[in-house]
Amino acid sequence: MTLQQFLNSKNFNSEINEILLNIESGSIKMYEKINEETDDIFGSSGQKNVQDEEVQKLDLIANDIFIHAFNTNSNIAKILSEENEDIIDLKNNGKYLIAMDPLDGSSNIDVNIPVGSIFSILKNTEDGFLQNGANQKLACYVIYGTTTMMVFAINQAAYGFTLNTKNKQYVLTHPNISTPNTGNIFSINEGNFNSMEKEIIEFINYCKELNPDGKRTHTGRFIGSLVADFHRNMLKGGIFIYPTTADRPQGQLRLIYECNPIAFIAKCSGGDSTNLTQNILDVKPKNIHQRTAFVVGSKQMVNQLLSLYKV
Ligand code: F6P
Ligand code: MN
Repeated sequence: MTLQQFLNSKNFNSEINEILLNIESGSIKMYEKINEETDDIFGSSGQKNVQDEEVQKLDLIANDIFIHAFNTNSNIAKILSEENEDIIDLKNNGKYLIAMDPLDGSSNIDVNIPVGSIFSILKNTEDGFLQNGANQKLACYVIYGTTTMMVFAINQAAYGFTLNTKNKQYVLTHPNISTPNTGNIFSINEGNFNSMEKEIIEFINYCKELNPDGKRTHTGRFIGSLVADFHRNMLKGGIFIYPTTADRPQGQLRLIYECNPIAFIAKCSGGDSTNLTQNILDVKPKNIHQRTAFVVGSKQMVNQLLSLYKV
């Protein structure tokens, strides 16, 4: 079943369908760009972004592609992008707002490791982008990996589509994604180990314990592209942790356009998320580029980590 056929079979409203088709067309352009045999996608653009991080050429290409894709959609009032300090006002009374990380994991571009695009869709209310993640109407990511996939969550269900690169159609390959309740993967950048909270250290040490036969109980996996780490853990069962650290006292990941959409997809597939104080989806953002500690994954693993904070 193609994406279009899937949308025809569902009763999402026409605005949501249009937004999904915008993401589809933008992501196919991205797929084509990434797979072009030119080197204009590699390396730095020479600029820094709002967060003082180096902007890669592909970051800018991705931002342009998706802004362009949404620009023509009169249902979208405003776009918040990781690449733009200010909100982009499309100057219409559209019913929806889009927050996006157009290229997640961009430090991985030059070394041939999966990257992604992340989207959060909110109703256009007077709170603007400063709404709890629980208010999201739709959350979506695209992963440009060994295959290109579009995953989205809506009405408490999550779906995965794989791009057929011959006819450039997304095909439903993962209907009703259901994440395992527990798993054996833990994903964390252990370079931060010595500056993490003691509860996180305790949890990581627990993951490294051996069973009575002396074999490992867990496996460590950290790609460094949130989308790719989450995608694997969602399908196989596991936990992703990016806590506050000495380098990133507020956390590394952005609440509105990275954590919220991923947390929403996790919830719709049966997983859980937290900022280690409360559910990520219950956090009221204070500013648009706010960072946060982020834990997401299999329910039982997230609960186990949280239980260490209660003793
Ligand atoms: O967008 C931020 C990001 O690149 C994520 O994709 C990834 O999970 C994280 O940062 C990696 O951060 P670090 O390089 O500190 O491990
Ligand atoms: Mn990112």
